[in-house]
Amino acid sequence: MIETIQSMSDYHTAYQRSIDKPEEFWSEIAENFSWYRKWNDVLKWDFSTAEVKWFDGALCNITSNCIDRFALLTPHKSAIIWEANSPQQQSKRYSFKELQIEVAKFANVLKSLGVKKGDRVAIYLPMLIEGAIAMLACARIGAVHIVIFAGFSSESIIDRVNDCDAKVIITADSMVRGEKKISLKEIVDEAIGQVPQIEYCIVLKRGEDNIEMKHGKDLWWHDLMLHADSICEPEQMNAEDPLFILYTSGSTGKPKGVLHTVGGYMVYAAYTFANVFNIQKDDIFWCTADIGWITGHSYSLYGSLLNGTTTVFFEGVPTYPDHGRFWDVIDKHKISILYTAPTAIRALESFGDSIFKDKNLSSLRVLGSVGEPINEEAWHWYHKNVGKGNCPIVDTWWQTETGGILISPIANVTNLIPAFATLPLPGVQPILVNEKGEEMIGNNVEGNLCIKFPWPGMARTIYKNHGRFVETYFSMFPRLYFTGDGCKRNEDGFYRITGRVDDVINVSGHRIGTGEVEDAVGSHPNIVECAVVGFHHEIKGQALYIFAVCIDAPMQVAALKKEVETLITTKIGIFARPDKIQIVKNLPKTRSGKIVRRLLRKIAEDDISNLGDISTLVDADIISEIIAGKMSV
Ligand code: WT7
Repeated sequence: MIETIQSMSDYHTAYQRSIDKPEEFWSEIAENFSWYRKWNDVLKWDFSTAEVKWFDGALCNITSNCIDRFALLTPHKSAIIWEANSPQQQSKRYSFKELQIEVAKFANVLKSLGVKKGDRVAIYLPMLIEGAIAMLACARIGAVHIVIFAGFSSESIIDRVNDCDAKVIITADSMVRGEKKISLKEIVDEAIGQVPQIEYCIVLKRGEDNIEMKHGKDLWWHDLMLHADSICEPEQMNAEDPLFILYTSGSTGKPKGVLHTVGGYMVYAAYTFANVFNIQKDDIFWCTADIGWITGHSYSLYGSLLNGTTTVFFEGVPTYPDHGRFWDVIDKHKISILYTAPTAIRALESFGDSIFKDKNLSSLRVLGSVGEPINEEAWHWYHKNVGKGNCPIVDTWWQTETGGILISPIANVTNLIPAFATLPLPGVQPILVNEKGEEMIGNNVEGNLCIKFPWPGMARTIYKNHGRFVETYFSMFPRLYFTGDGCKRNEDGFYRITGRVDDVINVSGHRIGTGEVEDAVGSHPNIVECAVVGFHHEIKGQALYIFAVCIDAPMQVAALKKEVETLITTKIGIFARPDKIQIVKNLPKTRSGKIVRRLLRKIAEDDISNLGDISTLVDADIISEIIAGKMSV
């Protein structure tokens, strides 16, 4: 088992060693895993070309490390506990031994459909144990999983499947979230006509309705599993072979297929999980993120299982059937670690203290926060009401691209400061740079957050587009990985993330690229041009504000706004729905034609007392017009 940090002096020793002797440091941690063959080199890297290799030449399989090991050591221990949307429905649990069998069976199913090492498999499933089984079965045979969050629209599925050329897609007939029922298969069906590379669609039966199954292509999960063999030898993977692709939004263009590889990701997810949450043998870990996001990959699934920890999958929402649902789940399963997002905390906070009536919560030991900056008020509320004042909160900063947590307190070790992600984990070398790329040395400084040395969990490339990988992350500041976040370092060297400095907007922890939303809005026949900015929102953190210019003044503004909303939900997903849409005559532009988003952001934020220099605008009057028009939004 991974030896974890238990004191500040352990932390300083580990940190110093990870800087002085990174190869020694990480190879020692890697020794905790089973490998068919050890590596030739621990690390080879060059940030100018964004080539990074960890443990290259080594052979392993992540599923032998997260399943087989524990199927021998602790066969009857629960690996995954599943809690349904409705508290009336029975929860399910799979022990490590049972998980081993199910994964092997499904891996054999995939093989029987012709899926081979390196093939891509798309997974469009809600929070069900079968989602985990599907991911692990891919990893077992060396297929690359692409989980598509089940809130994405059919057009998003088309884009992703086309980009990665998946040959199988796995979905369910339907899903439920609170009172809502969603016909997942229908959404997949809308996509499937346009993605001929999909040979099979495997459908899990979740609901009761009869759905149409197309002959030849559509196959029921349960039929396929009926006669599948329960032994499947793991594929021996090179540490640098791909494990998965996960699409994420950036400032420009279509979502990027962020690619993670087997060995480094495995070592990093396991190490960070064990340390950040100060894992104990009997922990029951609940991460509320969906497996469609990186948090679901690295901690609901891989990080926890790699440590033999029981992980909880919850299908539902925090507010169904009532606002006490989270606490009921915690009490029912005696959860000791809760890892959730500030937006959920703020949403629950708004319902008042009565939501804790008759709830116990004494099983909780550690609380985590992830996905966006947590405001101080929400931090204190979480600490006092959920943690009863005696659970540390680990405010974990990381990204889809980083594979695992980079900056975070270590539970029960690091001093906490509300809203601070505090200190880099061992192996992580953050650096703050100004606009010119000059390093901000010392403490009490603020700048763009970059990382100057590789860590094992980092993404290796953007699928089929290494140029874009270099361009997006390694060209803004030469030879540094640029995170896209702003950050302060206080007088004690503690880090506080201030939020994105690029055109990415974080709505309820969902990362949304302004460019993508602008493309969707711009596809409306009556909209010539638009700009999307973020503004502060009490619960979501940020919300979207759209400024749109019409070709013809719309007869019915309300109808037009509805159409714009529909375009966004069908092209991206419901979570990208804007809070405000304002029709404007023109957008503020410089003489060279650049939209001045800085001004639009200020207007959206109602921060108009000091707009700064507007003399560079072609038409400065447009600003007062937009401000006046804002009243009607
Ligand atoms: C962006 C990454 C980390 C997995 C889930 C989101 C923001 C994330 C924090 C935090 C402040 C945070 C950053 C980052 N973010 N965690 N603890 N404090 N900001 O992954 O969708 O790739 O988004 O989320 O802006 O760049 P993601």
